Amino acid sequence: MKYNPKVNEEIAKMFARVHPYSPQDSTQGILELMVQLEGFLAEITGMDGVSLQPAAGAHGELTGMLMIKACLQHRGEKRTNVLVPDTAHGTNPSSLSMASFQAVGIQSNEEGIIGPEQVAQKMNEDVAAIMVTNPNTLGLFEEHLKKIAEIVHGKGGFVYCDGANLNALMGVVKLGDLGVDLVHINLHKTFSTPHGGGGPGAGPIAVKKELSPFLPIPVIEKNGKTYRLNEERPLSIGKIRAFYGNFGVLARAYAYILSMGAEGLRRATEMAVLNANYLMKGLRGYYDLPYDRPCMHECVFTDKLQERFHVSTLDIAKRLIDYGFYPPTIYFPLVVKGALMIEPTESESKEGLDRFIQTMIAISEETKENPDLLRQAPQKVKTRRLDEVLAARKPKLRWKPQT
Ligand SMILES: Cc1ncc(COP(=O)(O)O)c(C=O)c1O
Repeated sequence: MKYNPKVNEEIAKMFARVHPYSPQDSTQGILELMVQLEGFLAEITGMDGVSLQPAAGAHGELTGMLMIKACLQHRGEKRTNVLVPDTAHGTNPSSLSMASFQAVGIQSNEEGIIGPEQVAQKMNEDVAAIMVTNPNTLGLFEEHLKKIAEIVHGKGGFVYCDGANLNALMGVVKLGDLGVDLVHINLHKTFSTPHGGGGPGAGPIAVKKELSPFLPIPVIEKNGKTYRLNEERPLSIGKIRAFYGNFGVLARAYAYILSMGAEGLRRATEMAVLNANYLMKGLRGYYDLPYDRPCMHECVFTDKLQERFHVSTLDIAKRLIDYGFYPPTIYFPLVVKGALMIEPTESESKEGLDRFIQTMIAISEETKENPDLLRQAPQKVKTRRLDEVLAARKPKLRWKPQT
């Protein structure tokens, strides 16, 4: 579990009674908080302009793609394609196609990242942008991003970075320094709002100067000592959301950044990366590691070594429940078969990591000695294996007393 301090929840709650239609002269503090948060995010990513409006990561992606489209139109260019590596997050190709671009796939190399040669081969004047997830979905840093950005810029394209996993970079790498022109950030991951569970999120988009005029309206501006919402921005892509964003999530992120400070943010990144590498090393040899090289905040194993005992990734995940662990992400990313993606996060202690490693090793032993135990798992909980197809087709969303 990531570090999501309760006090940030309390701070977010302080604003819960403010109505979004409140007059601007009574919400100056809120506008100031938002402007300061924009500044923090610009600093962390190495960008010039930020919009806090997108309600989620995928919404940030769509906003970014619409901005690229608007900028190209302004330049008088018609480019139709966007390059997407096979290690990109699944929302990337969806978002670009919602903005009426065509996805052109790029295959990652044997190291699990994209090489400049692959990009150079596909880059031409029809390409509007490349959309790179960094770290990619294999948990690997895209080492050649700077060179790739030069190739894309050389032919007039933009570099979009999916920065949802900024908890692997913040305080250490500024994506703007690597040639990125636009990046979205999942505040509901790195900045103190829990990820998942269906709650609201926020996917602010940060952009370089050239793209700033296309940011969604309203933009918060400061005139003397007064903040105001400016809707008169002729090049803007327009509104992408009612009001100004999910303010509660923004307030949490603001409190988190201020309480951590620059040093704290860097330390969180270092701990997230260290923990994932510690875990990867501890499980190496027991589980197949398709890309055996230093990872960022998460590491990806597969069930290849367990396959001959007819034990699958799903069985391993279910068995972890018997040991009291919440199972990690499974069958994602799609580029590796039977993936088991583990993100220990920055807040896991060494004792916690050791306990998890020992458990996974015990499960790998059980696979050989008693594979049925895994196939029947979980056994120690009230609800055994669910019929997932039935659960998806006929979801029971309300608890009813048994009659
Ligand atoms: C790398 C990456 N990109 C995009 C997204 C999409 O974010 P959201 O679920 O907020 O739309 C996620 C979500 O986990 C992600 O991990």
